[in-house]
Amino acid sequence: MTHPAAMPHVMNTYGRLPIALSHGRGCRVWDTDGREYLDALGGIAVNTLGHAHPRLVAALTEQIGKLIHTSNYYQVPLQETVGALLTGHSGLSTAFFCSTGLEANEAAIKLARKFGHDKGITRPEIIVCERAFHGRSLATLSATGNPKIQEGFGPLVEGFVRVPFNDAAAVRDIAKSHPNVVAVMLEPVQGVGGINPARNDYLRELRALCDANDWLLMLDEVQCGVARTGKWFAYQWAGIQPDVMSLAKGLGSGVPVGALVVGERAKNVLGPGNHGSTFGGNPLAMRAAAETLQIIEADGLMANAATVGAALKASLQRELGELPGVVEVRGEGLMIGVELARPCGVLLTRAAEAGLLLSVTADTVIRIVPPLILSAAEADEIVARLAPLVKAFLAEQA
Ligand SMILES: Cc1ncc(COP(=O)(O)O)c(C=O)c1O
Repeated sequence: MTHPAAMPHVMNTYGRLPIALSHGRGCRVWDTDGREYLDALGGIAVNTLGHAHPRLVAALTEQIGKLIHTSNYYQVPLQETVGALLTGHSGLSTAFFCSTGLEANEAAIKLARKFGHDKGITRPEIIVCERAFHGRSLATLSATGNPKIQEGFGPLVEGFVRVPFNDAAAVRDIAKSHPNVVAVMLEPVQGVGGINPARNDYLRELRALCDANDWLLMLDEVQCGVARTGKWFAYQWAGIQPDVMSLAKGLGSGVPVGALVVGERAKNVLGPGNHGSTFGGNPLAMRAAAETLQIIEADGLMANAATVGAALKASLQRELGELPGVVEVRGEGLMIGVELARPCGVLLTRAAEAGLLLSVTADTVIRIVPPLILSAAEADEIVARLAPLVKAFLAEQA
């Protein structure tokens, strides 16, 4: 790792490792010094199809030669293709396209407010969760439940009421005391907050509370959606449907694509002039999303995420789960967290030195969100590289 972190002409907003990646194939990437890494990070749950997937490369190459961008002044038939795939897989009705996760959530927040205004609630409130992460725009960082991310950016956007995660009683209490609530917004599996899955009974109870109170259930599937947990969308494990779902990350396999997918109750809330995004749904982005969704289906990547993910979680549990200093191994499909009892950010660097890309989130949680093409042998390799690092780390003085 010879490359200094300094990039003097780039604003210093990330704590970067001194590694520059040059190319990749499948679940492997190589740096500019020729060192190979196993990619258990997938660009933070983005590279669904791994790197340089031949079918995606061919499709994008063809698309670039035809049309990259047109604007939304015109019809974009590929938007209809992706919209049909997303609504077909989710059971929802229509999709709005944008380019990032925060943009999808920003659209959700605007939609919820308009939903309130349309029924006479002029100061609408949205229930959000502790430890949530919804993005870094002003509205989405206000919805985010992490004071570190909010610090220095006040005044925050008003209209959010915070409750503990996985606590339906807290939401029930809010229903009694806050007549202006219009929606509940949460991640079915909290990602940045530490890979915290919502319980199925909790999601079902939220669905019932939203129905009883005429609120929108808005699920942020930016990180956990698009087959990562072994179903198209993580909420499907609970057998419910949201009214609004935000997607991004894995949807374009690395090409920036975000989407807000909504059901019947929400589909007519926003109309012409209410919302927009210059790049949203452009032909290149839509080709990436269409191809990603089709390849997931054709190559059985949902089942792969479920089976390889379950085996990976089980062997992490076997290797690490019972050690003092390991709090829990948890997650669903290829969205796995190993929580340690003390901050372990240093493991990011040590893993990279051992040829493994991953991340540490919420200070103490090792986050594994690899491409959905991960093989069983590669899953074993993740454990073989990670377990000794964690054991050595645990053996050190806190
Ligand atoms: C659940 C969730 N929502 C929203 C976002 C924000 O997405 P983006 O960084 O594309 O704006 C993220 C990013 O990590 C996320 O994990």
